Amino acid sequence: MLSDTIQAALNVQINEEIHSAYIYLAMAAESDRLGLPGFTNWFKQQYSEELAHADRFFNYILERGGEVKLTAIEGPKINNETPLELFEKSLAHEQHITSCIFKLKDLSRAESDHATDNFLEWFVAEQVEEEAATRGVLDQLKLVDGNPSGLFLIDRELGGRKFDSTSDED
Ligand code: FEO
Repeated sequence: MLSDTIQAALNVQINEEIHSAYIYLAMAAESDRLGLPGFTNWFKQQYSEELAHADRFFNYILERGGEVKLTAIEGPKINNETPLELFEKSLAHEQHITSCIFKLKDLSRAESDHATDNFLEWFVAEQVEEEAATRGVLDQLKLVDGNPSGLFLIDRELGGRKFDSTSDED
C-alpha cells in the first residue's frame, strides 16, 4: 500500500517523464528543421525512452494498489535552437530529472517505504547513463565548434541510435 505522499510524488514523476518526452519530441522537430536527420533520430529515440520511463512509474503505482492521477503536461519551450543549445538544454534537463529521482528516494526513505526505495534504484543508475550519453554528445559538439564537416559526422553517428525497449525491462 502506497502512502498518499508517495503516491502523489510518483504521479508527479509520471508527469515529469512525459514532459521530458514532450521536450525531446520538440527537439526532434527542431533538428529536422535544421536538416539533421541523425539528431532527429536521436531525439525521437530519447522521446520513446522517456515514455517507457513514464510507463515504469505507471505500472509501479498500479502494482502497489495505488491510483494513477494524470495531470496536464506543460508545453516544451524549444525555439530556434542550435544543435549545441539543444544538447545544453538536454543535459540541464537530465540533471533536473536526476534531482527529482534523488528527492523521491529521500522521500521513500523518510517514509520507510522500502519497496519504492528499491524500485527507484533502477532510475538512479539510469540517470547516470542518461547524463553521460547527453554529455558525450555535448562534448563532441563543443569540439567541432559549429564546423559543418564535424556536425555532419556527429549527425551520422546519432543516426545509428536505436532505443531497445527490451533492454529497458530489467
Ligand atoms: Fe526519464 Fe531522461 O530521464
